[in-house]
Amino acid sequence: MNNGHIINIEGLIKRFPVGSGFFTALDGIDLSFGKGEFAGLVGPSGSGKTTLLNIIGSLDSPSEGKATVMGQSVGELSHKKAADLRNHNLGFIFQTYNLLPVYTVFENVEFPLLLLKMDKVKRKKAVMDALDWVGLTDKVKSRPKQLSGGESQRGAIARAMVKRPQIVLADEPTANLDSENSHHILQTMEKLNQDLEATFIFATHDDKVIQYLKRKISLADGKVINDELTPNRT
Ligand SMILES: Nc1ncnc2c1ncn2[C@@H]1O[C@H](COP(=O)(O)OP(=O)(O)OP(=O)(O)O)[C@@H](O)[C@H]1O
Ligand SMILES: [Mg+2]
Repeated sequence: MNNGHIINIEGLIKRFPVGSGFFTALDGIDLSFGKGEFAGLVGPSGSGKTTLLNIIGSLDSPSEGKATVMGQSVGELSHKKAADLRNHNLGFIFQTYNLLPVYTVFENVEFPLLLLKMDKVKRKKAVMDALDWVGLTDKVKSRPKQLSGGESQRGAIARAMVKRPQIVLADEPTANLDSENSHHILQTMEKLNQDLEATFIFATHDDKVIQYLKRKISLADGKVINDELTPNRT
């Protein structure tokens, strides 16, 4: 790799077994992402957005071709190496927030740091910083069911960002939010993108998300049909 890209995808094909045959969800994808990008995969339902994010996130592996993330080839990694890559370098934000209900907001955001064996004082500082980024410091002791949808999603963003990952993968992060909360969340992510130089990759069909993107990658039937920079959004 090192051509300045932190993600390189070449000739990626993903087939899922269906009945006695296969369904081709990704059909020859070539894409690269550099540090600090704010990019989105857009396209109709079933076009392969989530499948591609899952492979970049080393949650799934290619059937053919290659996906290299921070110099490591997804699909050729042991379970432990894949887990290390995720725990250290990747933050995930999902459509459903996946906050753990029995834990407080603080504990939910702290969780990824326990996997990194960070000491307690540093951990507390990192969690409070992350909650500050998303404007949730007054909810540290709340449990997820006591939060609004927007607050839950902000908690999920704090959890994804707390370890200052190089890459943040966000699958329909605004799907459960109203317009005002969506804009607030997107502005928060835009600021984290600038301040931390993390690369953000979204999967979305939400126009509110699309207007924030700096790069828009359109998928259809598992193929990239357009890839454009959108630097001059108003
Ligand atoms: N595990 C699986 N087994 C079989 N087919 C699958 C599997 N996962 C995804 N697919 C199929 O692959 C295609 C792409 O799915 P994917 O979830 O990536 O779409 P998407 O673009 O994220 O859609 P949406 O906007 O609805 O979230 C779909 O036709 C889906 O049915
Ligand atoms: Mg999807």
